Amino acid sequence: MAPSCFYPTSLPHSQLPLAILALFTFVRPISSAVQADILGGAAALTLSPAANSSSVSFDYTDALSKSLLFFQVQRSGKLHENQRVTWRGDSALLDGIDENVDLTGGYYDAGDNVKFGFPMSFTLTVLAWGALENAAGFQSAGELSNVRQAIKWGTDYLLKASADVPTRLWVQVGDGDADHQCWQRPETMTTPRTAFQINVSNPGTEVAAETAAALAAASLVFKHVDAAYSKLLLTRAAMVFEFADQYRASNTGECPFYCSYSGYNDELVWAAAWLFKASGGRSKYLDYVQEAVDENMVESTFEFSWDNKHAGVAVVILGSSLFDKETALRAAIKERADYFMCANLAGNPLNQVEKTPGGLLYLREWANTQYAGGAAFLAAVYADYLSLSMLLICLFQVFM
Ligand SMILES: *[C@@H]1O[C@H](CO)[C@@H](O)[C@H](O)[C@H]1NC(C)=O
Repeated sequence: MAPSCFYPTSLPHSQLPLAILALFTFVRPISSAVQADILGGAAALTLSPAANSSSVSFDYTDALSKSLLFFQVQRSGKLHENQRVTWRGDSALLDGIDENVDLTGGYYDAGDNVKFGFPMSFTLTVLAWGALENAAGFQSAGELSNVRQAIKWGTDYLLKASADVPTRLWVQVGDGDADHQCWQRPETMTTPRTAFQINVSNPGTEVAAETAAALAAASLVFKHVDAAYSKLLLTRAAMVFEFADQYRASNTGECPFYCSYSGYNDELVWAAAWLFKASGGRSKYLDYVQEAVDENMVESTFEFSWDNKHAGVAVVILGSSLFDKETALRAAIKERADYFMCANLAGNPLNQVEKTPGGLLYLREWANTQYAGGAAFLAAVYADYLSLSMLLICLFQVFM
């Protein structure tokens, strides 16, 4: 089907509001210097540089509720009775039909109607992480069941997309170029719903490993809620990880919209870290992480995003209570986590990321809030892990 609409100017491709929201989706009073410093920057999203952010209080509960509503707005497929955003209707009900598969469901990317598996999976991984770290906060905000539903809406789709692994994994539905010519409602869109796959002869390690990470992280969210579903997610995660690890090539299937600049090492170790955490015991995944660290596959970086998960790997691993606190691996991993935190925290000699005059972390011109959100999220999680026996030291500045 040829696109039947032509938007007068070419729209820049969207940069993932979903992921940004996922990263902000945690409810926790700001309780430490680490969080306060980075989150202070979040205030700059809404305040002019002149405003005094310390005198303004933010309603994080309301922000949380609205961000979860946004996930409902982005839903693709046949909507449920739990749909609270009622101006949305069913859409893309034939996704996958040309390939004889059911690829309905999941999330649209942003201002467009493409389902990009790579950023969608990352969004789900981090959303699940937020739900895991802050279940009590979600609960007190009355949002625990909503966040679980938001995760399940995505993982139900990933289960369909990965049903034929290791033969193939569906990584995208919708044609980015045609879609970006047409600003249409998903309910009435006329652009092609092409389905894209990766497979043994055309692997895509980044997207496959990120899919595995999302499934593994979500399996933990449902562990005590729906044991059968949780098990299904974990089993599938393991299969998708094998597929990702065995057939390696850098291809998200989604370039030029979501090109992986950081390569696939970070996704592979990230997936292994989540599988380690989700497997609930010492497992081959910890050995995988160990080897990866030995081979320098986990880098020191100052960005945490849909593309770059190195710092996320470090924080996930440090948060595992199963992890032997004495090993050299722990020290090596902590070095990566500390590098990220020191680079993002102001007022220490290892700080690298600039701030705007209003105090927002400023990494890059395009869609910068995702990096500020990523840093705020990782810092919030890491702050909870810090203790007298695990300090964050940025040369001579000590945080706990
Ligand atoms: C494998 O994936 C590539 C890229 O999406 C596709 O062109 C090819 O047809 C697929 N191979 C099979 C056997 O389906």
